[in-house]
Amino acid sequence: MTLPSTTSDRAPCTTPDRAPCTTVNGVGGYLPERIVTNDELASRIDTSDAWIRERTGITQRHIASPHETATFMGEQAARRALDAAGVGPDAVDAIIVGTSTPDQGFPATAVAIQGALGVTRGFAFDLSAACSGFVYGVSIADAMIRAGQCHGVLVIGTEVYSRILNWQDRGTCVLFGDGAGAVFLRANTEHADRGIISTHIHADGRYGDILYIDGATGQTAKPQHLVMNGREVFRHAVGKLAGAVDEALAANHLTHNDIDWLVPHQANLRIIDAMGKRLNLRPEQVVITVDRHANTSAASIPLALDEAVRDGRIQPGHLILIEALGGGLTWGSALIRF
Ligand code: UT7
Repeated sequence: MTLPSTTSDRAPCTTPDRAPCTTVNGVGGYLPERIVTNDELASRIDTSDAWIRERTGITQRHIASPHETATFMGEQAARRALDAAGVGPDAVDAIIVGTSTPDQGFPATAVAIQGALGVTRGFAFDLSAACSGFVYGVSIADAMIRAGQCHGVLVIGTEVYSRILNWQDRGTCVLFGDGAGAVFLRANTEHADRGIISTHIHADGRYGDILYIDGATGQTAKPQHLVMNGREVFRHAVGKLAGAVDEALAANHLTHNDIDWLVPHQANLRIIDAMGKRLNLRPEQVVITVDRHANTSAASIPLALDEAVRDGRIQPGHLILIEALGGGLTWGSALIRF
């Protein structure tokens, strides 16, 4: 028997007799004020600006101050996304947060953000898919909107990896930064040519030991630190992300020529360049923030979207491909007509 896959192959958007599709109505981001340069890190651990730039493309990262929690940053990004959409919190009936660094085990960060925004209806939950959290969140929100379960959804990625890094491990601590990004998604029955066209999410637990957080709630007295086998993750990222972008194009009978922008997860410039080349895109069609933000995990795609929408690169009608891979392993892609 052939089971339906995690891939949702659908005709683009809506017709009057079809379920609604999902449009991106607003994007927002928040970055902590404090910037830490490669040179500052090199003054504390055995690394160098040259090594970090050459291997990753990173020149600096934002690091959260004590008050800049996942909830605080997520709320700021959400407010900016709602402002951009021209709506207030009363338009929100669901909040989905991708985070690996929640303020506490529960209540969920999404529920805390809901409270901070003053939203009292609908539902809110966190999802754990590491760096793929935003792509997973978009996929779930789109499915729930199409099913009629909600109409106005905030999908937020918010991360304070600075609090789970082993600052003595030069192989990981130079790679990550803090921040939050959000999109406001809405059920759309009017613009058949706009919206989320398809999403494609995957996981393979066989590779759980190449990227993980050591120690968890319930494992007493164990500090929580991110652990990564960088070379192995790199190898999987290049192969699996290539598969995810091919899958998104094939599912919609599109080619690389149809793509206006690649907005990838920002882990490493070398991986991003490989994806841009695979899609035959010009370098200026790839949105890059990893140089200034480093890897902000689930926040990296909405932060990059926010930058490219605000500076006018992404325009209504443009076709955007997003993709990410993270601990799990989890990975996925989505095609969105802005
Ligand atoms: O968002 C989740 C997904 N994550 C990723 O996609 C990350 C994927 N992986 C990567 O981006 C790369 O593997 C890294 C940037 C993490 C590492 O680059 P690499 O080219 O794979 O380097 P490596 O780990 O093989 O290390 C090469 C050398 C080693 O020294 P030896 O053993 O050759 O003497 C490391 O000890 O570089 C050394 N090294 C460093 N040197 C200076 C590792 N980290 C540093 C450092 N500064 N920060």
